[in-house]
Amino acid sequence: MKITAFMGSTRKNRNTDTMLKSLIKDMGKYDLQTYYLKDMKINHCIGCYYCGKKGECVFNDDLSQVYKRIDESDVIILASPVYFNSVTSATKTFIDRMQVYWSNKYLLGNRDYKDKFGILLTDGGAEYDDTQFLGVDLVMDHFFKCLNCKDTYSYYVANTDDYPLYTDEKIIEELIEIGNGIENLKPGRVIKTRKEEND
Ligand SMILES: Cc1cc2nc3c(=O)[nH]c(=O)nc-3n(C[C@H](O)[C@H](O)[C@H](O)COP(=O)(O)O)c2cc1C
Repeated sequence: MKITAFMGSTRKNRNTDTMLKSLIKDMGKYDLQTYYLKDMKINHCIGCYYCGKKGECVFNDDLSQVYKRIDESDVIILASPVYFNSVTSATKTFIDRMQVYWSNKYLLGNRDYKDKFGILLTDGGAEYDDTQFLGVDLVMDHFFKCLNCKDTYSYYVANTDDYPLYTDEKIIEELIEIGNGIENLKPGRVIKTRKEEND
């Protein structure tokens, strides 16, 4: 199984990185590749629509090789904290470059992409409310559809300002367990409001 993970937080070893590292902790037996988006040179999409004519991106940068990797993947994992109700700018810059897939599918009619399973890990500093992850959900829904992630699993954690994730053994253990069961993971949504557990 080929698993490709993208880390969209600006900070290493903090909340989002802890989620991702826990999820993939025991995935060494798979073909696993993790990309730290903030360390990569990824040009902003300039809306030139070269991909709408040629089926590939006009840029030659750190994403050029990643497209092939995405095409071959069975599982796509994306981890991003909530920034202003959405994903981080590094994550969004990466996602905008997925326009190649949109163009191929909807402008060029190339729909021959492998079905994949998509996993979203996201966390917000504020106390949980119904709208906290809506912006992330909208962006990620489009992203996963573009990449042919027919089934998805989303894990949301609120209130990291009061209760950092990197010291939350319960969540770390749960994510390790979810990662261990990746082959049988069913589509779903888990929201950790962390109210009752910590009040
Ligand atoms: C620029 C910026 C914007 C943020 N916007 C939100 C927000 O809209 N909602 C929220 O719940 N938390 C927000 N946060 C808090 C982060 O989502 C939270 O601290 C997260 O756990 C950080 O993840 P990290 O430790 O991987 O950096 C924001 C943080 C920053 C730096």
